[in-house]
Amino acid sequence: MIILKASIHVKRSLAFTFRYTSDFSHIQDWDPGVVSCVAHNPEVVGKGSQYDLVLKFGPFRPKMKYEIIEYEPYSRVVLKGEGDSFSAMDTIIFTKTDKGTQIDYQADIRFAAAGKTIERILSPVMKHVGKKAMAGLEHKLTGNKGLSEKKKCFKSGSSLADYIADHAVFPGMLMFSRFGYEFSKRFWLEPAGTLYRKNIVLTGGTSGIGKAAAFKLAEKKAFLTLIARNRQKAEQVQQKIIQKTGNPHVDILIADLSLMQDIKAISRKIAETKKSIDILINNAGALFNERKMTSEGLEQTFATDLLGVFYLTQRLKDCMAEGGRIINVSSGGMYTQKIDVDDLENKSGEYNGAKAYARAKRGVVILTRLWAERFADKGITVHSMHPGWVDTPGIEKSLPEFHQLVNRMLRTPEQGADTIVWLALSKKGGQCSGLFWLDRRPHETVVFPKTGESERERQLLWENLNNTLSEFK
Ligand SMILES: NC(=O)c1ccc[n+]([C@@H]2O[C@H](COP(=O)([O-])OP(=O)(O)OC[C@H]3O[C@@H](n4cnc5c(N)ncnc54)[C@H](OP(=O)(O)O)[C@@H]3O)[C@@H](O)[C@H]2O)c1
Repeated sequence: MIILKASIHVKRSLAFTFRYTSDFSHIQDWDPGVVSCVAHNPEVVGKGSQYDLVLKFGPFRPKMKYEIIEYEPYSRVVLKGEGDSFSAMDTIIFTKTDKGTQIDYQADIRFAAAGKTIERILSPVMKHVGKKAMAGLEHKLTGNKGLSEKKKCFKSGSSLADYIADHAVFPGMLMFSRFGYEFSKRFWLEPAGTLYRKNIVLTGGTSGIGKAAAFKLAEKKAFLTLIARNRQKAEQVQQKIIQKTGNPHVDILIADLSLMQDIKAISRKIAETKKSIDILINNAGALFNERKMTSEGLEQTFATDLLGVFYLTQRLKDCMAEGGRIINVSSGGMYTQKIDVDDLENKSGEYNGAKAYARAKRGVVILTRLWAERFADKGITVHSMHPGWVDTPGIEKSLPEFHQLVNRMLRTPEQGADTIVWLALSKKGGQCSGLFWLDRRPHETVVFPKTGESERERQLLWENLNNTLSEFK
C-alpha cells in the first residue's frame, strides 16, 4: 500500500472549505490528475454520495468510482475509490484555526497487480502527483499566487524517480511495465489463423524484441526475411529459428540501416525477387548517448531511428502486396518530445540521447499517420507501436541506470513483441490504420502539452526527409 499524506492551511472559513472540498464533483477543478467527475446525485452531498471519475495517467484514462463512506460535517470525510487497476481510501480532516482552516489529507492506495518493488518505485511518483493535487486545492480555495514557487520546489532535490515523474512517466506509465502487460492480457482473446506463406520483412531480428518477434512469426509459419547488419549474428538466429520452429523459410539480407546506400542496395535486391511483401516490420533502432556521425555524414540517431525507417519504407512501398501491413516500432519515450522539423539531426544545444531518440520515435509516429493516408488506396495499413519497457540488450546498454532501477518491472522480449505479432496476425491489424498501439490497444499520441505537431510540421517533416535523401538517390 502507498500512503500519501499532505496538509495545507487556507485563509478560508471552515464552513466554506468543508463544503467545497467534501463535494468531490469539484475535484477536476483542482486535481490535475482528474479529467472528469460526475456526481450521481449532485443535489446532495453526504454519506452514500457517489462519483464517477476519469483519471489522467499518462496516455491512459482509467475510470474510478468513489463513494463517501463517512461524513462528519465540518470535521471529517472519508471516501472509498475503486478502479480496475487500483483502489483508494481518502481521509480528509478539517480543523478550524485562528486564521482559517487546516486540511489534512491522507490517501491510502493499493494497486491490484502490485508487489513491494512496484510500490517502492511508484511511491515518489504518486507523492509528486499528490502534492500537485494539494497545491491545486490550495490555489482553488485561496487563489494562491505562490503556486509557481511550489512547482519550483517539486523540481529541487530530485531523484531519478522524480526525474521520471517530471519528464516522462506518470503513474499510468506503469502500464509500460510487465504489470501493464499482465493486466491488459486478461482481456485478450488469441487471434485465430496463421501467417502461412505471408512474406514478412523484419529489421532488427538479431536481438531483443525483434528476435522474439522473429521466433513467434516463424512459429506462425511466415516466410521471413531478416534484415541485419551482423552476418554472423543473423546466421545464428536463422539456425535457431529453423531448429526451434521447424520453419525453413528464413532468409537474411545484410545492411546497416543507418546507411542509406545499404538500404538502397537491399531494397533493390528485394525488388529483384519480385516477391510481394505482406508485412514490413521496422523494428531496428537504438538510443545513442553520444552524438556521432555515420560514415555518410548523418547524425546517427536521426539516420537509424528516423531517416532509415523512412527510406526503407519508401523504397519498399512498391513491393508491398495489396492489403499489406507496415508495423513501425516506436517508443513511449516519444510522449516527452515534440518533433523539431528544423533540427532533425539534433544540432542545436547540447546533445541529449534520450531526447534525440524520443524525437526520432515521434517522427516515426507522424510518418505512420502520413503513410496510412498515402497507402490507403492500396489497402495497406500502417501502424506504430510501443513495446513497453522491455529487458533487452539494447535498453541495458543505452539506459543502464533505468535498467537497474526498474529491472524487475521490465517485460520479457516476448511480451514486448506481442503487439507486433498481433498487428501482423489479427483482423484489426488489417482494418485500422495510422494508430499508435500498446498492448493490442490504440493510444493517444499526444499526452504532454506542446508536444503535438501541426499539419504544416507534418508536411515539413516529409519534405525535409526527402530533401536529405536527395543526396543519396
Ligand atoms: N527495449 C525497450 O524497452 C524499448 C522500448 C521502446 C521501444 N523500443 C524499440 O524497440 C526496438 C527494438 O529494440 P530492443 O530493445 O529490442 O533493442 P536491441 O536488443 O538492441 O535490438 C535492436 C535490434 O536492432 C538492430 N539494429 C540497430 N541498429 C541497426 C542498424 N544501424 N542497422 C541494422 N540493424 C540495427 C540490432 O542489431 P544488432 O543485433 O546487430 O545490434 C538489433 O537486432 C527499437 O526500435 C527500440 O527503439 C525498445
